[in-house]
Parts: sequence; C-alpha cells; structure tokens
Amino acid sequence: MTEYLFPYHFVFGAATASYQVEGAANEDGKGESIWDRFSHTPGKVTNGDTGDVACDHYHRWPEDIALMRRLGLKAYRFSVSWPRILPSGRGVVNQAGLDFYDRLVDGLCAANIEPFITLHHWDYPQALYEMGGWTNRDNLGYFADYAAILVKRLGDRIEKWTTLNEPGVIAWDGYCSGEHAPGEQDFVKTRQVAHNLMVAHGLAVQAIRAVNPELQVGIVLNQWMSDAADDDPRSRQQAEDAWNQGETTFLHPIFKGYYHPAQVAFASETLPDVRAGDMALISQKLDFLGINFYSRNLYTAQGSVDQVPGSEYTEMGWEVCAPALRRLLNKINHEYTLPPIYITENGAAFPDVVAPDGCVHDERRLDYLKNHFIQTRLAMQDGVDVRGYFVWSLLDNFEWGHGYTKRFGIIRVDYQTLQRTIKDSGEWYARVISRHTVTD
Ligand code: FCB
Repeated sequence: MTEYLFPYHFVFGAATASYQVEGAANEDGKGESIWDRFSHTPGKVTNGDTGDVACDHYHRWPEDIALMRRLGLKAYRFSVSWPRILPSGRGVVNQAGLDFYDRLVDGLCAANIEPFITLHHWDYPQALYEMGGWTNRDNLGYFADYAAILVKRLGDRIEKWTTLNEPGVIAWDGYCSGEHAPGEQDFVKTRQVAHNLMVAHGLAVQAIRAVNPELQVGIVLNQWMSDAADDDPRSRQQAEDAWNQGETTFLHPIFKGYYHPAQVAFASETLPDVRAGDMALISQKLDFLGINFYSRNLYTAQGSVDQVPGSEYTEMGWEVCAPALRRLLNKINHEYTLPPIYITENGAAFPDVVAPDGCVHDERRLDYLKNHFIQTRLAMQDGVDVRGYFVWSLLDNFEWGHGYTKRFGIIRVDYQTLQRTIKDSGEWYARVISRHTVTD
C-alpha cells in the first residue's frame, strides 16, 4: 500500500457545464442556444434527449452545493449559459440570468468552495450562429463583450476565469463530424472556426483584464496523449506525427505564437485566414492552463490502433490508460513554457447499477479516478506544476450527442425523480479530500 500525499493547497474539485446540468431551458428570459436547437432536431441526440430539464441544477443548486460540502470540495468548476445572459448573444442583458449566477456564486462562497468559471462550454447563442457563428470574424468581439459583462458582475468573488472549454471539440465535433451542435460538416470551416476561437479567446483575455487586471485567466484544452505501441522507430514516428499534426492545434499558437509546421503542412489546402496581429492576441500570457484528460491514442508502424488488446474501455469507447496522463503532463511541460496547470476534467462513464442497498458501487470509476490521481501526483513529482484537479463530473448529466445514456457523475441523478445519490466513488473522493491523500 502506497500513500500519495497531495500538497496542502491542492485544489480538489468537480466540474459541470451549463447545458449539461442546468435545465430551465426556457426560463427567466433565457435565449435559445445551438444545443437547444440541435437537441430538439430529430435524430441528433440518442433517444431524442434534450437539456430542457437535465439535472434541474438551475433550481436545485442549493441542494447541489450542500452535496459539494458533504464531499468537502475545495472548488467547483461550472460554465455560464451565454444566452441566459444575452438572449441574442449580444446587446440587451438579461438581468435574471445574471442573478442566477450571482446567487450560485454567493452560495459557493458561503460554503467556502472556490468558484472556477468557464465563459463558454458549447451552448452558443442561436442568434449569433444565424449571423455566421464562429466562422464570422465580426462576431468574435461579442464574446469579449459577454466576458466583460460577467467580470463586472462576478469578478469581485471569482478569481479564476476560463475563456473556452475545449475549442477543438467546438470546431471538430460541431463543424466537421457534425456530431455536436451546430451539426455542420465542412472541414474548411472547421479550420477557420478553430483559429477564430483562439482569436475570440485572445479578445476575451484582454476584455477580462481591462475590467480587472487582478484576475487569473486561462483556457481549457482537451489533450489525448499520443503513444507508440512498441519500440519500432516507425511507431514512434507515427505517434509523434499524429501529435504534431493534431494535438498541437491550440497548444502551439497559444504557448508559442505560431502553428506547428507539421500542422500547416498536414492541412495545407485548408489553412485558415490568419490576420496581422492574430498570433500576438492568441499567445498572450495566461495565468493557468486547464487540461481535460480522458484517454490516449496508440500507434504502431502501420498507424493508429483501434482496440488495444487487454485494455479496459469505458462506455464512451475510450481506453483506460492512466499512465498516459503522466506522460502527457511531462510532454507538454517539456515542450512549452506553461503557467500552472489544473486538470479541469477527468473521469469515466461506466454502466452504473443501483444495488439493493440503494447505493451505487462504482468500483471501476473509483479505480479510474484513483489511478489518474496517482499519475498526476507522480507527474508533480517529476516537476510538473499541477495545482488542482476537477473530477468530471459532479453529477450524472446530459452527455451531448449521447443524451442521458452515459453516466460520468460521482453523484447519481435519477432522471425521473431528480434525486441525487452519492456513489461510492464520491464517498471515496470525500475521504481523499479530507486526508489530502490517495492510497492505492
Ligand atoms: C468533455 C466535455 C465535457 C464532457 C466530457 C465527457 O469533452 O468537456 O462536457 O462531455 O467530455
């Protein structure tokens, strides 16, 4: 038995996102988001599920904060529904929307739980989408305006501000595979959206700091490690090429100020329109980097491996490979000059069952989390500056195109009654937090 002690100030948290948990899709003046539109379009989401009710966090947040307290969470990462604040994405502010987040943040502060806010986690205003969405450069400034509105209202109580959650997923799933809202399939647009998202991020960083230069600003990127399956130099080359062509898309511009040459060469026919000044805007110094980690990609000399023999897979079809997290953290720490890192999401979907005793004995999720915590601690000992870790997710919730079929929570949500039950993984996490220690 080994004990992995975490530093006293390590931030143990959990995360959610507005559309996935809030519900109240048409309440208190909220405008339509592209996810409202997408989920109500037949055939887009498994079982026709929508986020109309979700976990009803919009009304049940006091109960949810009480649960966070029971777990002993130090921090809660949540996102804001942009069309709740600006029903048309710009212009007139919906005070009732702001009031909701104001109450939530007050509640968190009263419970001594630090709020980590994400400005945008995918529920983009439908009205802005109809004006060209992220493809239209003229729209990018609206994101900065929205950021400033929130900082003015909440900046006195929130220190950590994240601009975007996973711009790569916004671009590729929303505009290339079409599996996410707005459901387009256009690779040229995808590349432009990815670039424009970084410009919008840069504008928002400026806007946040213009209102309050004391705040800490960052972005959240999801990174999959690229591993070679064996010692064959060709396998290693495959893994390295895949990393350079894909995984550097945001890291390179943000932390080096230019696109990786391998990326430029790989997609040379669909290069985005990059304007003078973009790269300086994109590569402004950040106060922290959020990393969402779920799995890795594995390569042999022949290319990527679909199914790794002997490996465990989650309900998402993602391989479980905790040591890849340590390798990833070391790799990015070596290749870039990074600000402090937070693991802003990590977790797993498994088929939970409610046992006759009414509990959810989710050992596989518990093991997944335990092993990823250990690998994070080891990466810290290797020299990576990781300051905190947010489990995805606090609650079972609306998993985008999969609807309610994938459960990631350390708290179960019964979607009929909306009753919450802390799973074994949640009870385990509470013990970890109270002792600052993970025991394997
Ligand atoms: C991430 C998303 C998050 C959740 C997890 C499973 O890509 O940021 O909202 O869906 O995956």
